[in-house]
Amino acid sequence: MSKIVLTKADTLQGCVKINGAKNAALPILAATLLANEPCVIKSIPPLADIENMCEILKHAGYQVRRRNTTLSIQPKPLKNLKFPYELTNKLRASFLIAGPLLAKYKHLEISYPGGCAIGARPVDLHLKGFEALGAIISKQNGYIEIFTDKLTGNKIYLDFPSVGATENLIMAACLAEGQTVIENAAIEPEITDLANFLNSMGAEISGAGTDTIKISGVKDLSGADHRVIPDRIEAGTYMVAAAACHGHVTVSNVICEHLKPIIAKLRESGIEVIENYNSVTVNAAERFKPIDLKTLPYPGFPTDMQAQFSSYLSGIPGTSIVTETIFENRFMHLGELKRMGANIKTEGRTAVIEGAALTGAKVKATDLRAGAALVIAGLHADGETEISDCQYITRGYYQFYENLNQLGANIVRID
Ligand code: EPZ
Repeated sequence: MSKIVLTKADTLQGCVKINGAKNAALPILAATLLANEPCVIKSIPPLADIENMCEILKHAGYQVRRRNTTLSIQPKPLKNLKFPYELTNKLRASFLIAGPLLAKYKHLEISYPGGCAIGARPVDLHLKGFEALGAIISKQNGYIEIFTDKLTGNKIYLDFPSVGATENLIMAACLAEGQTVIENAAIEPEITDLANFLNSMGAEISGAGTDTIKISGVKDLSGADHRVIPDRIEAGTYMVAAAACHGHVTVSNVICEHLKPIIAKLRESGIEVIENYNSVTVNAAERFKPIDLKTLPYPGFPTDMQAQFSSYLSGIPGTSIVTETIFENRFMHLGELKRMGANIKTEGRTAVIEGAALTGAKVKATDLRAGAALVIAGLHADGETEISDCQYITRGYYQFYENLNQLGANIVRID
């Protein structure tokens, strides 16, 4: 269990360079299972989640080599098609190997992906889509076994625009016979990045980034080189930290288009945000305004930024209302913020925040984004904050503390 201690930052000033997106890299690494030749994936930071996915590829028999932020994946003769709990329970996104393995090897057994702190996170939409393509699913002893003689293209309507289900079904459909149409698909930028990677391997995918994606199955897929898009959530996290600390911070290596909802809500709260070609500059105002926000599928406000904004809004005088529509249990950070003096009332998926000055306290990270939110709270709270269970944070943020300290924070690890 790792711990950090931090004190209030007078301000944050300077520049932070954003890494490749964890949530684009994970499906793209899973997609390398489809390749007949080596793949080289660039801009992938050495995060715990990424290393866990690499372990899963190695368990299948593939060779994975890292050089700085570049991963080289070489297909090798298959070693395993059974993926045990010890391998998959550390990473929810491990279920993204199902689509590629089903497409290429027609069979796999994977330990049931557990839920996590933010919700049950079922995979029913993934499984329904696999069945629509001709797969047979059986569940026993905590494993899901998926197999097929042949995958055949079909029309699939997703009851919810699930990011993971969209990604898994695109990958499964790449080698199916005929055309697959996914309707009510997720349109997150990470989906488009995955489709671009697959098309560079020889797949025939159109419509990624819209709610209707068409995939014409092909015989096989070659290798490819790909650079992962910048991480919009990492970028947003630093932007909110700068705003909360009345800072002046430039976040570089971003795609401004992907940051639209974050920029809009920061501006609505009184922050000046200047968009440059591939960077944004946040100049905090003297007077902040409380705002309302509701998480929605892209291009709505991202659920992965809800905790960080809740921390920021907790310190803004006035009433802000936060509604979480994506996950059923993504308010655990609010209990920790209350320990820091935040005045928050929750009713179901809605939190009413009466902004007040926070004070440092001992708090606990419960998941990746909640952990980042508590760091933001500690940066604008009076006194010292101690955050335990920080291992969650380093799953998704590379050099997070080092970057914040370079901007003027004072964060000390106590491992
Ligand atoms: C991806 O998770 C991200 N993870 C999450 O980021 C992100 O919060 C989420 O999309 C929403 O944007 C990765 O990309 C690795 P979903 P995913 O399927 O694919 C329900 C982070 O902090 N659902 O879009 O699992 C589900 O329970 C992580 O980086 C079903 O009911 O999200 C949830 O309520 C956290 N059945 C909602 O849909 C299904 O079969 C959205 O889930 C699938 C999902």
